[in-house]
Amino acid sequence: MIKKQMVMLSHCVTVMVLCAFGPARLAVAADINKGGQLYGLHCANCHGASGVPVMGGAPNFQRSEKLLQPDTLLLAAIRGGKNAMPAYVGILRDQEIIDVIAHLRTLQR
Ligand code: HEC
Repeated sequence: MIKKQMVMLSHCVTVMVLCAFGPARLAVAADINKGGQLYGLHCANCHGASGVPVMGGAPNFQRSEKLLQPDTLLLAAIRGGKNAMPAYVGILRDQEIIDVIAHLRTLQR
C-alpha cells in the first residue's frame, strides 16, 4: 500500500516539474517587455517610440504598415536590413528579433 502511494506521489512530482519547467523551454515564446526595451534601444531612432516614423521612408507601425506579413518574413527583413535600414544579424539574436516583432504588433492602432 505504501509503495503504491509512493509511486503515485512520484507521478505527481513529475507532473508538477513538467508544468513548472515545460513552457519555459519553448524557444518560440516571445518576451514583449524585452522586445520593447530592445525596440527603444535599436529601432526607435528611426521608427519612433510609438511606431510613428521619425525618419522619412520608414513604415508607420501604428497604421500596421509592413506588419501585415508573417513573423518569419519580418524576421528576415530585420536580420538582413533593407535600403536605409541596417541589418541586425550579428547585433540581435533571432530570439531577440522575435521579441521585438511581438512589440511591433502591440504598436498597431
Ligand atoms: C537607420 C534607421 C532605421 C533603424 C535604426 C531601423 N529601421 Fe526599420 N526601417 C527603416 C527604413 C527607412 C525602412 C524602409 C525600408 C524600405 O522599404 O526601403 C524600414 C523598414 C522596416 C520594416 C519593414 C520591412 C519590410 O518588410 O519592408 C520593419 C519590420 C522594420 N523596419 C523594423 C525595424 C526594427 C525592428 C528595427 C530595430 C531592430 C529597425 N527597423 C531599425 C529605418 C530603420
